[in-house]
Amino acid sequence: MTQPAATTPSPRTSGKSGAASGSPDEQADDAADRTTTRTATGPDDLSPAEVAALIRAVDVDRAAATLSGVARRTRVVAHPGLGRRTGAPVWLKCEDEQHTRSFKLRGAYNRVAQADPARRARGLVAASAGNHAQGVAYAAAQFGVDSTIFVPTGANSVKVARTRRWGARVEHVDGGVDAALAAAEAFAAQGDRLMVHPFDDAAVIAGQGTVGLELIEQVPGLRTVVVGVGGGGLAAGIAAALAGHAHGAQVRVVGVQAENASAFADSFHAGRRLCAPADTIADGMAVRTPGRLTLALAASLLDDVVTVDEDAFWEAMVLLRATGGHLVEPAGAAGVAALLRHPGLAQGPTAVVLSGGNIDLATAERVAALTAAATVPATRLA
Ligand SMILES: Cc1ncc(COP(=O)(O)O)c(C=O)c1O
Repeated sequence: MTQPAATTPSPRTSGKSGAASGSPDEQADDAADRTTTRTATGPDDLSPAEVAALIRAVDVDRAAATLSGVARRTRVVAHPGLGRRTGAPVWLKCEDEQHTRSFKLRGAYNRVAQADPARRARGLVAASAGNHAQGVAYAAAQFGVDSTIFVPTGANSVKVARTRRWGARVEHVDGGVDAALAAAEAFAAQGDRLMVHPFDDAAVIAGQGTVGLELIEQVPGLRTVVVGVGGGGLAAGIAAALAGHAHGAQVRVVGVQAENASAFADSFHAGRRLCAPADTIADGMAVRTPGRLTLALAASLLDDVVTVDEDAFWEAMVLLRATGGHLVEPAGAAGVAALLRHPGLAQGPTAVVLSGGNIDLATAERVAALTAAATVPATRLA
């Protein structure tokens, strides 16, 4: 069933790429396949010239102007305990304190703001495990238009309730984020509505990249950024922003995925798009197929994509709660989880993006219990 392998540029190179293709049957098959890593479907070939044009199209300055007065410029706080563990100054970028409690509002709003007004007026459509959903619903409310969001069955109920609170209509779809995405795309095409992709869109990537612009200004001598990866929009956007604005300084950007949902990491290291199962507590990052644009950007702009085990997310959430009182969701703790498992990642002043704070009740209760029991090793860093 697997089609010829795509040859997206390998990490840190920008060689000519090839193509992968696949039928709708194969896509459905991929969605159902929970046990193996497979070649992704769809054309994958971005030439070096296309990658260069894409980097130019990711206009983070324009996004920053658009988001001024809309997104919060979230604070950064030093984390001395992680600094001691890693031997480098570590700063936390508190996107858990963003409106809608995640960075996702940045990309969603930027995309919607740039859209054709007539199409925007026909309504917004999105697919999401919950954070992008809230970003799109929030943007819809700001522009006074309808929004319909397709979420995977079993999605975090707190995120779904908050999405509805912004006025969105929510449709549940079996089969994970990828199936929700297919349903959303079909619905958008039917009514010529505005589909707001969660990650594979230059305006979305640019909006997420404004996190990187703020980090340059907020972290003195910034040298490393560690950030969670699902479809790759946040990491690609930050890397694009830093490539254009770090004033000659080399800032390393390292992505983090769950070992149990490692499609992006696998693809980054293989140099071609691969699908993988996604079964992790970090629901915000449970994407089975990397973006075509985001992977191409990552291949030329990211330094590495590492993975962490499920316990690392728990340890990171407990550490963050015990030190500074940050109650973040699992995906939001990915960067800290990576520093716990790979302390050497922090080289020079290091920023870790706390990308989301929409934690569900059961997870929050378990984090509280683990914190009180102080049995999790990371609490020793308090
Ligand atoms: C809290 C959180 N962190 C990280 C990510 C990953 O973002 P991206 O899909 O842009 O890689 C997401 C995606 O929804 C998220 O919700």
